[in-house]
Amino acid sequence: MNAWLADEAATIAFAGRVLDAMPGDLAGWTVLLNGELGAGKSTFARALIKAAGHDGPVPSPTYTLVEPYAVARGKIYHIDLYRIADREELRYLGWTELDDGCRLVEWPDRAAGLMDQADLDLTLKYEDDGRRAALRGLSDRGKQLVEVLDSAYSED
Ligand SMILES: Nc1ncnc2c1ncn2[C@@H]1O[C@H](COP(=O)(O)OP(=O)(O)O)[C@@H](O)[C@H]1O
Ligand SMILES: [Mg+2]
Repeated sequence: MNAWLADEAATIAFAGRVLDAMPGDLAGWTVLLNGELGAGKSTFARALIKAAGHDGPVPSPTYTLVEPYAVARGKIYHIDLYRIADREELRYLGWTELDDGCRLVEWPDRAAGLMDQADLDLTLKYEDDGRRAALRGLSDRGKQLVEVLDSAYSED
């Protein structure tokens, strides 16, 4: 599905909609966040974490690689792979152990092959003064989620 995000508030609202469409237990969900610098990947992740009930700062994981959050619906891991060189380095980060929560992954293309393990792929692009969001389901449950979102909110 595509969504037009006119401003930052629209990106924040969109993150809330995606969270609302996810199951009560967020464990095991992986959302890939694509887009160039400043496209809004962190804005989306921060908004989703806050919408899930986290009340506090959401620092960038650029240097720590992973920032964990505990929310009512489980754990959320905000992950930034910008600084990793290849997929091997995912092991140092403990990638597989992070499947007890929802993984929000910025710069997923730094680790080739994450697509087969992910549920959703969000790509944000600059367009005029806003952003164009393209949300794609990768897993079966991801595809179902996108269908539900699409019928509820398409281009409104
Ligand atoms: N839909 C939007 N339209 C215009 N500006 C936006 C939109 N969504 C977010 N922004 C702004 O764009 C910037 C995105 O920064 P950030 O989320 O850190 O990007 P990234 O993590 O992709 O590098 C922020 O300044 C934010 O306020
Ligand atoms: Mg970012």
